[in-house]
Parts: sequence; structure tokens; C-alpha cells
Amino acid sequence: MSEIKSFAKTLIIWQGQSGRSGLPWQGQTDPYRVWLSEIMLQQTQVQTVCERYRIFLDRYPHLASLAQASEEDVMALWAGLGYYTRARNLLRCAQQIQQQYGGEFPKDAKTLATLPGIGKSTAAAIAAFCFLERTSILDANVKRLFARLYGISEPLNLTKTNQQLWGLAQRAVPASKADMPQYTQGLMDFGAIVCKPSKPRCLEPSPISHCVFQTHCQAYNQGQVDVIPYKVKKSQSPIVLSEMLLCIAQGKVLLEKRPSSGIWGGLWSLPETSWQRVDQFKEGQRAKCSFEDFQHILPNQLETVFNQGQLFAPRKHLFTHRTLYFGVRVLQLKKPLPKLPIQYVWQPISGVDQLGLPTPVKQLLIDLVI
Ligand code: ADE
Repeated sequence: MSEIKSFAKTLIIWQGQSGRSGLPWQGQTDPYRVWLSEIMLQQTQVQTVCERYRIFLDRYPHLASLAQASEEDVMALWAGLGYYTRARNLLRCAQQIQQQYGGEFPKDAKTLATLPGIGKSTAAAIAAFCFLERTSILDANVKRLFARLYGISEPLNLTKTNQQLWGLAQRAVPASKADMPQYTQGLMDFGAIVCKPSKPRCLEPSPISHCVFQTHCQAYNQGQVDVIPYKVKKSQSPIVLSEMLLCIAQGKVLLEKRPSSGIWGGLWSLPETSWQRVDQFKEGQRAKCSFEDFQHILPNQLETVFNQGQLFAPRKHLFTHRTLYFGVRVLQLKKPLPKLPIQYVWQPISGVDQLGLPTPVKQLLIDLVI
């Protein structure tokens, strides 16, 4: 394995010439702002984060304001960004920094990584950008870059490979602390712009090299760029069915607050059956659903109303690890149901789209009632 002696220097020069600049979170060292951007960017595209980052900061301009927020408000502000555990952890992390560290972010990656929602790589990004710590990030982009440079053809999720990559990344950091922000940005940018997962720039049919590391890159030299990182074949994601109940009465809809852990944790949703696993989905297929499934909210005299409810065809929603088809049964009631368990609330239709709702449920309500 040949060391690339000038790796950091080359990357920093490349970042200055061809990397991203002018993004709303760049060029500043406020750890609150950097932390927020890094959490948002974990699973959301840069363009979306650009819009939502400003909105979030307008509402919660500093750590103290976020730490005082209710989970309800934070979830509503996060709606549509997905991966809602991030939002819950964001609030928990703000509260913990407020209580345990007097409102000041810890200044080293090791301590940062002990906080809710801050993994080792995010901790390194915050420490490098804000406190100039000589520590490396290692997100999926950076893993791919080092795996290609060093010709690592084992699956990247193996513990051994992962440790090897952390070692390589740490040895590559620049000697000078002052270079850490631009170097770290360079790592992020290079994987996004040049050493991309598909169609990396080195495989473009052009005689000019688009990659400053091409001559040193083992994957390139061995014709292995398109097979590194080695992809573990995914099994088909499970298919689940559910039937939701849309109860409408006097301009209100019945919503259920989902438990704080699990899918759509802490969001408002519609009452629904359990999710039923099937091997395949056939057009028009619905979840098994009977009056008994909703007897904890519907009194016995509503059985006929339930059976006559208007059915809407199942809608499809893709999660990363499963596919959900959810049908809808609409019940028009004369008045709101009495004596409901605590997690159920009648919400006026007019403000319902302001609540923290899962995106497909929000779309359903927009299409059917709002
Ligand atoms: N992805 C994760 N962090 C990022 C950053 N700071 N800039 C651009 N993309 C990113």
C-alpha cells in the first residue's frame, strides 16, 4: 500500500479551486450551526438542507432556544425531512448540552461523540470545523474515496475493513490544525463531486484527468473503480400492508400520536391496523381489517357506519428497509367520538398540515380533506 504523501495538501488545493463554497453553514465556527447542518445533511440532500436549515435557524437561532422547545414543535418543523430519530436526538442533545455542559458544546470529537445523535464521523466534522482538531471524518463518501485509493475490495461494513479505513483516514489528516476546516470540506466535496458512487469522474471518456489522485489510485490503476466499494447484494425489502381509518366529524379529523420509538415515532398519524407482512403486492390488495381492529376507539353502535365506510385504494410508500401499501377507510361521523385513549386527539382540519405528520399521511390528508 503506497502512502500518498501529499494527499492532504493536494486535497486542500483542489477544494479551494473546485470544491463547494457559499453554502449557508460554511465559513463559520459556531458549533450549534455546524452541528445542525451536519445532522440535517446526514440523510438529506444539500439543496433541501439549504432551504430547511434557514427556516430551522429562524425558529431556533441558538442552542438555548432549541433546548427549551417541545418535542411536538421540533417534530413539526422537521416534518418532510425524514429519519425522525434525528429530530428527537437533536432536542435531547441540545437539552443535554444545556444541562451537563452549561450550554457550551464540548470541544473535542471524543466527548462530542457521546452525545445523542452524534456519531464518530459527525463528531469529527464538528471538532474539525469549529475547534480545528486534527481528527478525520469517515462518512460513506470518504470510505469510498479511501477504499478506491488503497484498492480495498472487501465489503466496507466489515468491522475489520471499517477499522482499516479509520486508520487510513486518521493518518491522512494535515499536519497543521489551521488546515482542518478546508481539508474536511475537501473530503466531503471530493466524494460528492469527483469520486462519486456511480459515474466517477475518472471513468468519463475524456483524455483530461478529472481526478487529482488518479495516478496514485489503486482502484483506477487496477481497473476496479466500478467494483470498489464492493456492494453486498440487498435482499428485496419486505412488503407490508395496513389500513388507516380517517374519521371526520364537525370539521375535525381523528389523529393518533405514535409511540416515540419505532417508525414515525412521535409523529401524528391516522389510527390504523397493525402492519401485515406479505410476500408480494397484487393490484388493489388490502390489509386484513375488521371492526375489531378499531374497537378500542369505535363504540359498538358504529359497526354499520364502519362497514359502510368509503374505501380508497392503497397508496405506496417506500422506506429504506420496507415498502408500505396503506389503504384508507373514511368514516363521516355526526360528532367526535367520546372517551378516547390519551394518544387520540380530534384536530381541526384547517391546521392539520402544520402538525408533524409522516409525509405520506400528510399527502393523504391534503388529497382527501384539506
Ligand atoms: N455533507 C455532510 N456534511 C456536509 C457539509 N458540511 N457540506 C456539504 N455536504 C455535506
